[in-house]
Amino acid sequence: MTLPMVVPAQGLPASVRIHEVGARDGLQNEKAVVPTEIKAEFIHRLAEAGLTTIEATSFVHPKWVPQLADAERLFPMLDGIEGVALPVLVPNERGLDRALALGARRIAVFASATESFAKANLNRTVDESLQMFAPVVARAKEQAVHVRGYLSMCFGDPWEGAVPVHQVVHVAKSLLDLGCDELSLGDTIGVATPAHVRSLLAALNEEGVPTSAIGVHFHDTYGQALANTLAALQHGVTTVDASAGGLGGCPYAKSATGNLATEDLVWMLQGLGIDTGVDLGRLTATSVWLAEQLGRPSPSRTVRALSPDSHKE
Ligand code: HMG
Ligand code: MG
Repeated sequence: MTLPMVVPAQGLPASVRIHEVGARDGLQNEKAVVPTEIKAEFIHRLAEAGLTTIEATSFVHPKWVPQLADAERLFPMLDGIEGVALPVLVPNERGLDRALALGARRIAVFASATESFAKANLNRTVDESLQMFAPVVARAKEQAVHVRGYLSMCFGDPWEGAVPVHQVVHVAKSLLDLGCDELSLGDTIGVATPAHVRSLLAALNEEGVPTSAIGVHFHDTYGQALANTLAALQHGVTTVDASAGGLGGCPYAKSATGNLATEDLVWMLQGLGIDTGVDLGRLTATSVWLAEQLGRPSPSRTVRALSPDSHKE
């Protein structure tokens, strides 16, 4: 097993919390529906590899995301996992009821910075979707359930093009005003570049949003995800979303490809001497195993480099 040489850099956090989204953002986008037992084994293996926040599934309408329609069967199969947060996506009160009935302790609502994606993903305007989330967040808070607020299309939108920073800040603040505990800034189609990331983070800070409440969620369509992550770390962000093996995409966003691969992120963070608690060897083995189940190689550069035999024709 090769590891990068550790050369720490000034001005970066000592540790980063990886919010692993492969089982949700990754598998929601697979053409084939992955068997529930494989999903459960995937999540167990991610936990054994040291990931401490693993987004498990979504309680959305099963017709909208058939790949995750087995949430009721999957979630109880994760009962034995200790000391790991298992957030789930919840769009509305119906989804919250389903999640709470199974004992979920962390949920995520998901808003859009643009009207086009709000309509495509939630069948609502931005304002209507915030109204839909309001009782979800309020009821979750009453039960001390942690709420993440995703915000999609923060850096560009496939229908609308450029998305003004002030528009993103407005919806971000609305999510926090509803009571979300943290934000995740989504580059849903992977178009961001580092100075754009810095400018959005600075604009949020100027409007009173602390960096400690912000996570970043980069898709890697244009190969910018790691560069954007480094820019966010330099700004003080310590929560980074990533997906094992680089799985991912969004079925309701044209041109969304895989997320930043967790292995690529861990390689960089290890080289920088930043603690993640993740065992890169075990994680890579998990992604190689999942790629075999899916019948195609992992898109992660690090997975390919560390397991060349698994990619031979
Ligand atoms: P709608 O069609 O407007 O639903 O969809 P509705 O509110 O009109 O309800 C219609 C029927 O659906 C009703 O049943 C509801 O009970 C039922 P009826 O009374 O007709 O028998 N229903 C549900 N059933 C089960 N679970 C539910 C649920 N809700 C309603 N939760 C809705 C609105 C929000 C439901 C739909 O648009 C939806 O499910 N969207 C989810 C889309 C999604 O999951 N997208 C991917 C996640 S977002 C993402 O990937 C981006 C992210 O990674 C960040 C980034 O990269 O930017 C997070
Ligand atoms: Mg995503």
